[in-house]
Amino acid sequence: MTARPIGVFDSGLGGLTVLRALIDLLPNEPVVYFGDTGRFPYGPKPGDEVLKYALQIGDVLAERDAKLLVVACNSAASVALDALRARHDIPVIGVIDPGMRAAIATSRSGRIGVIGTVGTIASGAYQRAADASGTDVTLTCAACPGFVEFVEAGDVDSDQVHVLAERLLAPVRDAGVDTLVLGCTHYPMLARTIGDAMGRDVILVSSADETAFEVRELLAAGDLAAPPESSARHAFLTSGDVETFRRLGARFLGPEVASVQRWEW
Ligand code: DGL
Repeated sequence: MTARPIGVFDSGLGGLTVLRALIDLLPNEPVVYFGDTGRFPYGPKPGDEVLKYALQIGDVLAERDAKLLVVACNSAASVALDALRARHDIPVIGVIDPGMRAAIATSRSGRIGVIGTVGTIASGAYQRAADASGTDVTLTCAACPGFVEFVEAGDVDSDQVHVLAERLLAPVRDAGVDTLVLGCTHYPMLARTIGDAMGRDVILVSSADETAFEVRELLAAGDLAAPPESSARHAFLTSGDVETFRRLGARFLGPEVASVQRWEW
């Protein structure tokens, strides 16, 4: 048993949707969360640049004595998981395998859609996760540039975002998928709009809960869980503006966003 924190990171605030699931499932686990809001967004950036950022953040969290790393950003997980695992001798998990697993367990037809940032979809990481699962599923993937920006602007339900969703999701809807993976931290906030565009028969899957279950299993397997009587204190680091992080963080996560520190690269 150990009171060392779980390290969680994202390009910004979106990873707090994953952290919400983690805190709900493991309320006495302390977490140190790094949001790279100063270099946000990762989605449109080249993979080697995102890899470099992810390795830097991994080092910061390892210096904070993280006992396990959660890459809560799909764009980072799609390019950096192997390198992070090679660099650190603690368990490292991303959101892509858990998301794929949840979708495979949900889908009846085996026709699954995946949406994500340009970087995530271009990396082919979801297709690799599906291939590695050993199941016979067919993926239809679509990048959704613009979705993240709408969420960041606090707009999840306007006519404009509906029109964009109709256009970007048409290929996935036309492929007849019965399950859609929300392969980006921000997309759960657009679930209603995405659900409207996809139709009622399509089940939306986010990786947050499944990732939290995987963390719990890894902690148990490695005897890394916090003592049951401990009360968790969370720490937040941001490479951007502290006040903005605190304000928007409360929207993504809730009142747990209290102690926020600025990180200078
Ligand atoms: N966190 C990113 C992801 O899940 C979305 C935001 C960004 O583009 O950095 O892909």
